[in-house]
Amino acid sequence: MADAQDILSLCKRRGFLYPSFEIYGGVAGMYDYGPLGTALKNNIIEIWRRLYTLGEGFIEIDSETINPEIVFKASGHVDEFADKMVRCKVCSDAFRADHLVIEYHPNAGALKDKELDELIRINKVVCPACSGGLSSVEEFNLMFKTNIGPGSGRVGYIRPETAQGIFVNFPNLYRYNREKLPLGVIQVGRGYRNEISPRQGIIRLREFNMMECELFIDGEDKTWPRFDDVSSETLRLLANDGLEMEISIGDAVDQGIICNQVLAYFMWLTQEFLKAVGVDEERLRFRQHERDEMAHYAADCWDVESLLSYGWTEIVGIADRGCWDLSRHSQFSGVEMSSFKRLDEPQEMEIDRIKPRYDKLGPMYKGKAGKIGEVLEEADPVEVKDGSIIIEIDGEDIAISDELFEVVRVKEKVTGVRSIPHVIEPSYGLDRIIYTILEHAYSKKDDQTLLSLKQTVAPIKVGVFPLMARDGLDDLAKDIDQELRYSGIETYYDDSGSIGRRYARMDEIGTPWCITVDYQTREDGTVTIRERDTSSQVRVRFDEILDVVRAALCDVDLSMFAVE
Ligand code: GLY
Repeated sequence: MADAQDILSLCKRRGFLYPSFEIYGGVAGMYDYGPLGTALKNNIIEIWRRLYTLGEGFIEIDSETINPEIVFKASGHVDEFADKMVRCKVCSDAFRADHLVIEYHPNAGALKDKELDELIRINKVVCPACSGGLSSVEEFNLMFKTNIGPGSGRVGYIRPETAQGIFVNFPNLYRYNREKLPLGVIQVGRGYRNEISPRQGIIRLREFNMMECELFIDGEDKTWPRFDDVSSETLRLLANDGLEMEISIGDAVDQGIICNQVLAYFMWLTQEFLKAVGVDEERLRFRQHERDEMAHYAADCWDVESLLSYGWTEIVGIADRGCWDLSRHSQFSGVEMSSFKRLDEPQEMEIDRIKPRYDKLGPMYKGKAGKIGEVLEEADPVEVKDGSIIIEIDGEDIAISDELFEVVRVKEKVTGVRSIPHVIEPSYGLDRIIYTILEHAYSKKDDQTLLSLKQTVAPIKVGVFPLMARDGLDDLAKDIDQELRYSGIETYYDDSGSIGRRYARMDEIGTPWCITVDYQTREDGTVTIRERDTSSQVRVRFDEILDVVRAALCDVDLSMFAVE
């Protein structure tokens, strides 16, 4: 298995990743993407984006990264989004308590403060840096806090997930979708978590890239139209009862291992996406969260884990968030966050209505009583909180005490029902996916590094070389290079050093093909095309290069274009 240090040093040497602020000594958990890393990242995003928008019909938004405090009060992050921390009593270094006891418990991340304290005590765990004694466990909130505006301003947080930007826009997006469910929304962007002690390259970053999808569905109907088409497709599951299995998604849903079709479908789709961008399916599994390990918002959650030199590592989380987020934002904002389901036929239903007590409203509100009564009759009884309801009269909010109305159950013909949609969330950790792809593509033979990236994600598709930088071979090679670039194919022109070294440089950054112009090119108009993983070469006519490369990018066998 590749060593993480080999991967990180290749990444730095060849321009995939640079430790941020390196000239000032760097900051743990912060990395910049270099030219090749940025191109690789963009290619992965584009495949993901197309899968969801073109393939699944989802819409994409781009929301703010700094949010006012109320957003994360509502989402639960202000109160709940914390890791468990211990400090060294000697050197004051801080550590994730669960990481320090990982070898003593199969799921240390799910332990409570007291249990962690106990594990640290009985196993005599000390500070990994200086062997000092450790403090007891405390909660450390992972959000970066800031002020919006001058002075102490208004408290804000930098988002720990892009998801909330989608939830707070639900009324707009539901309207955009012509008030229909399912409604699938994606967002690509940065998330920020003030990790306690990030130490694993780009696996745990303080500023990280996410690709998130929030799928709003009817909570009463968690079926999915395309499910039957893929129900025989299999996943490797590690369920939270400890059972590990290779099982079809149809059977997994029938047996209640995956709780609904929608979750199962998006688990399968995620697997296919990860395979397509170069994650090795033999080193891929889905692990179900323990009940007490789940995020505060989740009703069920499966991590997609890849096997890395760091061990099994979460790269995607697929959660059923139920109606948590929309209910909370509705409660905190006072804005309706529900969807309307039209019934096939109008039905008589028992519903709650507010019945104003005009005998009491009149003496209290005099001339306004009639208007207040009308607004109360239209108000939703679920808005009654702590003994009163707030209504708007002539642009002013008035709290009406529940002594001035009754809530009565009446029979009415209704054409539809309102309910708060549920959310299925596949959330992709882009940096972790990138690292996985690099590690799974990496091999070394006789001191030569090969990065077998999928051609679709490779930052450079074609290296273009003249055998010698003279005799007009360089001019011909530059013409080919330009033609490919102008046709949208990323190339790298290189005329320095031996041809072997030039191939090696391209192999090391995952370039799938190299075109070489040699002396035969001048005679018969053909060039060689070398394939990275096999080093095999075919000769191709000069004027067919573009077609050959385009076809190869679509996975067509190169040899069919070879000149006999
Ligand atoms: N939105 C999922 C997460 O923050 O992990």
